[in-house]
Amino acid sequence: MTIPEQKIEEVRAAANIYDFISPHISLKKRGRNYIGLCPFHNEKTPSFTVSEEKQIFHCFGCHAGGNVYRFIMDYQKISFIEAVQEVAKQVGITIEVSETEQTEGQSEQESLLDINTAAAKYFLDNLLNSHEGETARQYFERRKIKLQTIRTFGLGYALPAWEAFINFAREKNIDLNKSVQLGLIGKTNEGRLYDKFSGRIIFPIFSSTGRVIAFGGRILENRENAAKYLNSPESIVYTKGRVLYGLSHAKDDIRKLDKAILVEGYMDLISLHQAGIKNVVAVSGTALTEEQVQLLSRYTKNVVLLFDADAAGMKAAMRSIELLLQRDMEIKIASLPVGEDPDSYVNNFGKQAFEEIINRAQNFLEYQTDYFQKQGLFNEPATSAEAIRELMKPVALINDELKRTLLIKTIAKKFNLREMLIEDELRKILAGQHKVELIEAKRREVTESKVLDSILPAEKKIPQQIINLEVELIKLLFEGSEKTVELIVHHVNEEMLSSDAHITIFNHVADAYNASADLTAGALIERIKDEKIQRYISNIILEKYTVSKIWEEFHPGESREKILEKYTKDTLCKYKHAHLDERANEYYTEMENAGNDEKKIDIMKLLRDLNKEKQLISEELR
Ligand code: CTP
Ligand code: MN
Repeated sequence: MTIPEQKIEEVRAAANIYDFISPHISLKKRGRNYIGLCPFHNEKTPSFTVSEEKQIFHCFGCHAGGNVYRFIMDYQKISFIEAVQEVAKQVGITIEVSETEQTEGQSEQESLLDINTAAAKYFLDNLLNSHEGETARQYFERRKIKLQTIRTFGLGYALPAWEAFINFAREKNIDLNKSVQLGLIGKTNEGRLYDKFSGRIIFPIFSSTGRVIAFGGRILENRENAAKYLNSPESIVYTKGRVLYGLSHAKDDIRKLDKAILVEGYMDLISLHQAGIKNVVAVSGTALTEEQVQLLSRYTKNVVLLFDADAAGMKAAMRSIELLLQRDMEIKIASLPVGEDPDSYVNNFGKQAFEEIINRAQNFLEYQTDYFQKQGLFNEPATSAEAIRELMKPVALINDELKRTLLIKTIAKKFNLREMLIEDELRKILAGQHKVELIEAKRREVTESKVLDSILPAEKKIPQQIINLEVELIKLLFEGSEKTVELIVHHVNEEMLSSDAHITIFNHVADAYNASADLTAGALIERIKDEKIQRYISNIILEKYTVSKIWEEFHPGESREKILEKYTKDTLCKYKHAHLDERANEYYTEMENAGNDEKKIDIMKLLRDLNKEKQLISEELR
């Protein structure tokens, strides 16, 4: 399927990149731009930059970058066409697509998601309507799950057969290989296919936008040598550590209440939701990951951990605390009576009792102290000191200084210690951390220069000054000023440019200019299909200092247009002069090697011409 270029541009122009990023990432205004934590890599200090003015984004940590389409593609892991459709839908522009066309050009991801959707519907149908589904229906009844809840979470049942899903797939022309890839169908060593989830209760796992990306399957009766839960393998539509179960159902409430309850299991989340407690997400079987924390932090900073009251739950809570603190999340830990999990508790004692548990949640210091106390660590001076040191570690993870100080006071008071002593301990831990930060910064520098190296030529020996000025001119092309583009297109030609990448960029911008097209960065970047070059552009044009910043300081009060024009002229002048100086250098070398005076005089004439040319340029670009 193809969407006409014109339509692609129309949709892009109607969309404001900020509106598409801000629901997912918390952005802060910084100068002309917005900054936030990058969704494409793990970071503690924001290097993800969004420019509303230029309609592009760039991460200075991992170098993801581009316009609104690139963001949607990378963020939702969908194809370009899908991204255009998504943006079109949100800005209210219709793109007509015939159905046959759509299947033809469908992306791999989209076809896998379609299979999952079909499978989920099939499992639901088994549960609700099939004869064999009776045992599963009774199971849910026993567990007090209502029909409406089954529908809300798309729960299902995989018939206890070797080939029930396989037959369904054959009937519906579903690709069996892709179903194997998705873990719906298994393959024996002899190559025989079989239903992977056979006889299990099905929990579809949704992406944060509500697509079925995987399944969890629970065994009906606990049996000894069978896993209680079977989960889909990772695939191009499913990365385990990046998904929080139930987020698509919970995100509105989490935002509204500005609080999320983190539980362990599918059933915990579902029962709580049914009871009207909807701001819940589940880690479902894995240790909480940094990506999951990052995902959650887009919706709220306040998290209540509610893990099972067993040793495993306690350990999981401790590990999660560190990750959450690093993201400056406000954490509380709630505990249930031994033997209960959130699902059983809310079913046994009701919503109100559950809410009391949540309200009684402790902050992590209290929780950890209690935990150490139970272990008897405070009975001996030696273990006691060690325990206090352990308590300090998470405190050191908090970036917010005020918060840190308050916690130090709490600890000091609690253990009757001098604050100084604790601060010393903290300093030691922080000193260790600082080293790590330096290493991270260094690594970032290296990758940054790598991006530039990969795009700039290695063979030609071009003076750094020329390259710097050229980069400056490229930046100026994306300032959204017609006058600036006009000047550069008029004064620069392809031969002057130092790399293929710069030539590509320059030609595309010149084309847009000649066609009187949109000159915002977001529009220009769309014309350049090469992803590497797109990233390179977003990198240089959103760099920490903006092109006109220095000039604004020198010319306060002048309009931005005027400043840009002056700066462009000045840069162009220097750039052209640098090229001529380069030629002059060659002439000088030639002159040194010239045998006779006649030749020398010729060269001197050429040098004089060069000087004249330089003067003309200065006058023209004054
Ligand atoms: N889990 C898993 N694989 C297992 C066991 C557990 O993926 N073999 C995950 C599931 O997501 C499960 C969660 O860990 O929901 C918590 O496990 P558990 O407490 O054992 O199950 P419950 O959710 O309480 O399920 P149920 O109430 O049905 O026993
Ligand atoms: Mn349970």
